[in-house]
Amino acid sequence: MTTAALIEELKTLVEPGKVLTDADSLATYGKDWTKHFAPAPCAIVFPKSTEQVQAIVRWANQHRVALVPSGGRTGLSAAAVAANGEVVVSFDYMNQILEFNEFDRTAVCQPGVITQQLQDFAEDKGLYYPVDFASAGSSQIGGNIGTNAGGIKVIRYGMTRNWVAGLKVVTGTGELLELNKDLIKNATGYDLRQLFIGAEGTLGFVVEATMRLDRAPRNLTAMVLGTPDFDSIMPVLHAFQGKLDLTAFEFFSDRCLDKILDRGDVPAPFETRTPFYALLEFEATTEEVAEAALATFEHCVEQGWVLDGVMSQSEQQLQNLWKLREYISETISHFTPYKNDISVTVSKVPAFLADIDSLVNSNYPDFEVLWYGHIGDGNLHLNILKPDALSKDEFFAKCATVNKWVFEVVQKYNGSISAEHGVGMTKRDYLGYSRSAAEIGYMKAIKAVFDPAGIMNPGKIFPL
Ligand code: MLT
Ligand code: ZN
Repeated sequence: MTTAALIEELKTLVEPGKVLTDADSLATYGKDWTKHFAPAPCAIVFPKSTEQVQAIVRWANQHRVALVPSGGRTGLSAAAVAANGEVVVSFDYMNQILEFNEFDRTAVCQPGVITQQLQDFAEDKGLYYPVDFASAGSSQIGGNIGTNAGGIKVIRYGMTRNWVAGLKVVTGTGELLELNKDLIKNATGYDLRQLFIGAEGTLGFVVEATMRLDRAPRNLTAMVLGTPDFDSIMPVLHAFQGKLDLTAFEFFSDRCLDKILDRGDVPAPFETRTPFYALLEFEATTEEVAEAALATFEHCVEQGWVLDGVMSQSEQQLQNLWKLREYISETISHFTPYKNDISVTVSKVPAFLADIDSLVNSNYPDFEVLWYGHIGDGNLHLNILKPDALSKDEFFAKCATVNKWVFEVVQKYNGSISAEHGVGMTKRDYLGYSRSAAEIGYMKAIKAVFDPAGIMNPGKIFPL
């Protein structure tokens, strides 16, 4: 069958107008926020129901057509990029919150529900959906599940995985599975739900997710603290964790602050400039908690770990302090950064940072390097900015050389080459630095069980 004939058949499976093949749509829906690969899908299909998703997957099996799932397209590892003539399955029209259960504190979401839509829904019910990150206004729940999204509150609330009570998935054969039935306790063997979380659509598509909600946090209060060096950040974390129950502990370098202040719409936290900044957050539920925070701050100053600091006194100030960290990714995106998203256990962070920092300084002397991330949970974002003079291809090739050394250090510390952005296509060649050959063998075998025809997001996680 020709591609044109296949697309005509695909059109019969969904509502009129729900298959697009115009150049603009192919370019838009064929990519995510990465700039490494040129989008080249053959069509975009927009199912509106589980039955339509099943029909699309069965059709793809019959004709051996590769499918790429697409959510808010905010991914940073090219897991939702269609660069090889695939059909993109967009969940934009499966975007409803179908049910709410106040006793179970759960919301049943279609995959196209925007993260912020769920956060706002929870807030309306007096509850909280705690998985949060800068792209919450565009990212979709299905994509968050596909990458097991993390973000800025992981230190308290964990990753997306912790909030998925149950899933309905369409496997690579078109079969519908209901996984875990939203139970808290369920000791009936393998928890297949967990396999689909972080699978990047390589086993099947999520068509419904029951998400847990939490109690709303009380009087969230943030502090930004300026530190004299990398080495002071972890003692600050340790000191505050000894006194407070933190909801976040982030860090960023002075170079990041420069970029944010250049925008002109975010105030500096304080006048002193320091090489690094920690942003921490806690619930200031009582006067005693706020006093403990201030006493800990003073202790950190006495120890020489902190040079200056500020504590939010209003909701507006809280938001402004968060912008210093949350706006970094978007603000630097026009520099076409090469992104490393690496993690180690928290206790290893100081030694790991020192190793990576010296490696980067000796190997990227001409490039601007930005450090930021979720240091409180061991996740560091190392961003290398592209100099104007270099083409994208030359720049990524240079980064790839140093990458290997960075990943060797990650391996030495038993860390992860992708803490929260996923493997997709950008990290697939490096999987062996975090997973053993035996493990990768089992992973491929699992894929073959759920996707025997190899049509579900091929070339993601593992090379083609
Ligand atoms: C962040 O922490 O800001 C996000 O993971 C995005 C990024 O790393 O650029
Ligand atoms: Zn992050």
